[in-house]
Order: sequence, then C-alpha cells, then structure tokens
Amino acid sequence: MSRPRSPSPSRETFVLGPHVVPRIWVGLWQLSSSAWGTASTTKIHDGMAKHAKLGYDAFDMADHYGAAESLFGGFRKTLPSTTTVFGATKWCVFRQIDPSRTVVECAVRDRIERMNTQSVDLLQFHWQDYSDMGYLTALRILQDLQKEGLVSAVGLCNFDAVHTNEICAQFGSGFIVSNQVQFSLIDTRPLHGMADICERHNVKLLAYGTLCGGFLADKWLQQPEPEPYTGSLTPSQRKYLDVILKAWGNWTLFQTLLVVLRTIGDRHGGRSIANIAIRWVLDHPFVGAVLIGNDTIILSSKRRFILGTHKALDWEFPNIWTTISMLTDSH
Ligand SMILES: NC(=O)c1ccc[n+]([C@@H]2O[C@H](COP(=O)([O-])OP(=O)(O)OC[C@H]3O[C@@H](n4cnc5c(N)ncnc54)[C@H](OP(=O)(O)O)[C@@H]3O)[C@@H](O)[C@H]2O)c1
Repeated sequence: MSRPRSPSPSRETFVLGPHVVPRIWVGLWQLSSSAWGTASTTKIHDGMAKHAKLGYDAFDMADHYGAAESLFGGFRKTLPSTTTVFGATKWCVFRQIDPSRTVVECAVRDRIERMNTQSVDLLQFHWQDYSDMGYLTALRILQDLQKEGLVSAVGLCNFDAVHTNEICAQFGSGFIVSNQVQFSLIDTRPLHGMADICERHNVKLLAYGTLCGGFLADKWLQQPEPEPYTGSLTPSQRKYLDVILKAWGNWTLFQTLLVVLRTIGDRHGGRSIANIAIRWVLDHPFVGAVLIGNDTIILSSKRRFILGTHKALDWEFPNIWTTISMLTDSH
C-alpha cells in the first residue's frame, strides 16, 4: 500500500482517494523532448527536490514521457525515508490489445519498478478505441490489483463524459478518482458534460493545457502571431497555437484576452497572466489540480515556475470570472 506522506507545505490541497495532494502538480511531459532543453540526472533530481521542498511534491508522468518515470524513481531513492512524494503516471493503450491479467499486471509492475515504489500512487488509464469494450476488462483487473496493493488509486486519462459516466456507474463511485483532460480559458469543453459527471461521481478533474503550452503568459502579450514551423516553438506550443487559431478564435482575439488578464492581474497585486489563467481553472469545484508543464526543472531554474504558480494559490476573487466569461463566451 502507499506510504503516508509528510504534511505538504503547499497551501492548497485536496483529497484524491487515499492521498492528500497539492492543487498544482509538476507536469513532466516536457522531459520527453530536447526541444525543452536537456540537463543531467543530478540537475533534474535537484530541480525536483527544490519543487518538492516548497510543496510542489506531486509529479505527473507517463511511460511515453521520455525517461520521466525512471528519473522520478531515481529521485525517490535520494529521499530520506521520512520524506515522500506523489507520483502519478499513466497506462495509455493506443492500439488493440487483449487486456488479460498478465498484460495488465505487467504494465503495472513495469511502472512500479521504474518509479521505485511498492504501489503506484495514481495510475491514470487511457483507452483509445471505445468500440473495443476491453477497457472494462482492463479496469476490472486494475481494481483487483488495487485490492492487492499494487495500485493505490486509479484515474482515467482523456476519457470523454459518456464513458467516464459509464465506468463510474458500472464500478460504483469511489473507484475512479480522477480524469486528466485539457481545460483552460480557451478550451472549456469540460464545462459541457464532464463537470456534472465529475460532481456526480466525486471524480476530480486533473487539468492540462491550462497555460496553453506557455501562450497564456505575459511574454506573449503584444506579440505578433508566431510562425508554427519557422520559429522556436516547442511541440506543445505548435499544438496549442492550432487550438487558439482553429478551435478557439484568432490571434487578435487572443491578444484581447491577454490584455484583459493583464488588467485583472494589475488590479490584484500584480499577478501574472499565468496566475490568473491557473486560478480560473482552479476555481471550478470539480477541478482537483492543474498540471503545469515544467521545463524549468530541465533548465534548473525554479524561480519562474515557483514564483509564477505560488501567486495563483490561496487567492479568491470570484467576481472577476464574470468579466472573463463575457469575453470567452462572446467570440
Ligand atoms: N494527458 C494528456 O494528453 C496530456 C497532454 C499534455 C500535457 N499533459 C500533462 O500536463 C503537463 C502540462 O503540459 P501542458 O501541455 O499542459 O503545458 P502548459 O502547462 O500549458 O504549458 C507549459 C509551459 O508554460 C510555460 N510556463 C510554465 N510555468 C510558467 C509560469 N509560472 N509563468 C508563465 N509561463 C509558464 C513554459 O513555457 P515557456 O518556457 O515557453 O514560457 C512551459 O513549458 C504535462 O507536463 C503533462 O504532465 C497531459
């Protein structure tokens, strides 16, 4: 079973199955490509330690995020036995498989080994093809493995509202603790269906894309529309630029949104655009945590991440959301 965690110095926390975890997690997708920079294992462990010390002790990873799971497992080994960190990973099934007991157990044991633990703190399950109902078999086996102590909590990853509801109804509330999906000021899809399902079954949303790969930040204020392939955009920024321009609106409207967020930040203690964008997501009751992609671990400069996110916490000013909703709803 999972080890009890030391009290976190993070100011905002929430209950996720048997765990109490911070409301901002460190996302490790950014370890998967040199586009975000490279660093030695020692530097990455040092970066993780600095974040954990300040309460950012929950890390989100996957087996396809480069060496993220092994790096996290190595980091765990460096910690004294009294210090614990929270490791969420994923089992993403992108192609057709037979989810037998052996296949599912192997997937879990691989992660246990890489992450240097007795029990995966949170295993987030993704199943690509809903027409193949094997996801229900896989989840039944994950439930058995949870009872046997190999998994501490089970979540979903990128499941739609219909199938999240189906699974929670079939397995009973309490088994699935979370669903990881995209949620931001420019991608509000979870508000239409998913929010109700989460509240009905006490599933917490774990949000990614909240900063749109870094576009929802002061450095993009009054900047011209970037070229997707000729500049220095990261792989995620290319993806999010597409969301801004094709699914959401256009660059001019996006600049208007940044101006509104800047004005709100100025009126509230000089908070950054990123602070406001994170707070907007956190203020939805069905949201458990926001996952912030952390290239600064690689660059070994914790300053921007920590200062940037700290000021998104412990701050409530709900009526500002009316202004933002008016803007986002009007496009
Ligand atoms: N399940 C999925 O399908 C899925 C998909 C994507 C991501 N994720 C998870 O979510 C995590 C977050 O990834 P994301 O795509 O959502 O990225 P994101 O958090 O929207 O953006 C990350 C980028 O924001 C910028 N940034 C970070 N802290 C900042 C701060 N305090 N102020 C201003 N800018 C800041 C940095 O970019 P610059 O350095 O360029 O400014 C960083 O690379 C991933 O690591 C992963 O764990 C999951």
